[in-house]
Amino acid sequence: MKAIVYEKYGTLDQLLLREVKNPVPKANEVLVRVFASSVNFNNLVFVKGKPLIVRIETGLLKPKFKIPGNDIAGRVEAVGTNVSRFQEGDEVFGDTSQYGFGAFAEYVSVRETELALKPENLSFEEAATVPEAALVALQALCDKGKIQKNHKVLICGASGGIGTFAVQIAKYFGAEVTCTCSSKNVDLVLSLGADQIIDYNRDDFAKNGARYDLILATAGSRSMLDYKSALTSRGICVVTGGTMSQIFRAMLFGPVISTLGSKKLGSMLVKPNKDLTFVKELIESGKVKPVIDRSYPLCDVAEALRHYSEGRTKGKIAITVS
Ligand SMILES: NC(=O)c1ccc[n+]([C@@H]2O[C@H](COP(=O)([O-])OP(=O)(O)OC[C@H]3O[C@@H](n4cnc5c(N)ncnc54)[C@H](OP(=O)(O)O)[C@@H]3O)[C@@H](O)[C@H]2O)c1
Repeated sequence: MKAIVYEKYGTLDQLLLREVKNPVPKANEVLVRVFASSVNFNNLVFVKGKPLIVRIETGLLKPKFKIPGNDIAGRVEAVGTNVSRFQEGDEVFGDTSQYGFGAFAEYVSVRETELALKPENLSFEEAATVPEAALVALQALCDKGKIQKNHKVLICGASGGIGTFAVQIAKYFGAEVTCTCSSKNVDLVLSLGADQIIDYNRDDFAKNGARYDLILATAGSRSMLDYKSALTSRGICVVTGGTMSQIFRAMLFGPVISTLGSKKLGSMLVKPNKDLTFVKELIESGKVKPVIDRSYPLCDVAEALRHYSEGRTKGKIAITVS
């Protein structure tokens, strides 16, 4: 099969399209013919092996997962003897990050628990952009953010891969949604259901006096005190992204600030595939749809990651495989 392979950490030039052996499904595994994948932040940092902390997961001196990529959409080619949830021909999607990655390839063999049936109203390309980004948004808003009907919600970074899902999911839960984005993305974010827009190049959410029950920060680099100042007295701020320093500030200072009062602040790491079936239902009911910035063929994964690394993506970048 064809696959994107990298043998050592470094620049994106390391990523080479190679012919490698097809995976063979173990007893609890499903062999998926991958029709599409998508670009996520981990794909970039795992290839570079930086920040060094990621090497705890990916291998200290050289990458242990030779084929990067984690979002997949495709068709079941074969199943292991103990598999009960899927059968040959099923159209599936999922996130393979807990099972060795390997999505930037024509085939991947993955534990059946990492998959769900693909939303019927999406193409493979669209479906492949969903698993990680939509679940970061859902888990941040629901599990961490405790979102409720009529909550005032601020989404910082609403035009990105995670942000575009977060706007729609927050609206689904009946919140009043304010979003930060730049002027060129206002129409996109309004089309996803946003009630108000703050152009972050012109205005500052921390200085307009508004108070939010829930702030989801997927981009930017603000202090925890800025987010705290914009929360209602029992408000919650969940930082899922932005600059590394914003993420570390949320991890380190968020819990400390939270112990000093009723406002809760902190970071969140996604639990891959948790509630993927719920997202499938949201999509099939027309409440949520992926936004695709651009698609690249498998052979141009390095180019796709370069485009992603510029930080100006509108929605998701898809990778078309077979
Ligand atoms: N917690 C987790 O489990 C998890 C999982 C995956 C990713 N992440 C993190 O999530 C973050 C976002 O990932 P992503 O894939 O959604 O990113 P992305 O698609 O690359 O986000 C790009 C978007 O962010 C917007 N943006 C940039 N700076 C902004 C700012 N200061 N305020 C508002 N919008 C801004 C850009 O719009 P303009 O061009 O208009 O600026 C662009 O549309 C990354 O930092 C990543 O580390 C976390």
